[in-house]
Amino acid sequence: MRVNFTVNGRPQEADDVWEGESLLYVLRERLGLPGSKNACEQGECGSCTVRLDGVLVCSCLVAAGQAEGRQVDTVEGLTGENGELGTLQQAFVDAGAVQCGFCTPGLLVAADELLERNPEPSDGDIREALSGNLCRCTGYEKILDAVRLAAARAEAAEEAVRP
Ligand code: FES
Ligand code: FES
Repeated sequence: MRVNFTVNGRPQEADDVWEGESLLYVLRERLGLPGSKNACEQGECGSCTVRLDGVLVCSCLVAAGQAEGRQVDTVEGLTGENGELGTLQQAFVDAGAVQCGFCTPGLLVAADELLERNPEPSDGDIREALSGNLCRCTGYEKILDAVRLAAARAEAAEEAVRP
């Protein structure tokens, strides 16, 4: 079957998709978007997290056909037009929250969703929002630092343009 959907704001189509094919497979192998990572393929690790019509999903558990006509946002969409890092991505780098980096795309997508709906999250809010994303490297503290840093920078940027 053919799947037509929008990925990071651009119309896309994938041909010859078989019924059991996951959205994660289509993104990585058919559309050349390898940011979403494939680790457990069981919905356990969060490394494949994307947004489907704005809602966080494990793309390994979503059949590609379910994305027909819908909006998918991946970690690649957090990067600027010229490839520059977004605020959240830069905060992860600056806070030292990236080690092997395998969990990072899923964490970024989940953190982006959190900050969009709650620009000033408490530590509890951050922990809850990222609870579906496993990291074997960082011990999580630097990831929490990164989200706090991104929230503070976004707030400072907003204050700077406020009349
Ligand atoms: S690869 Fe999808 S949750 Fe682990
Ligand atoms: S940085 Fe390695 S799994 Fe998180």
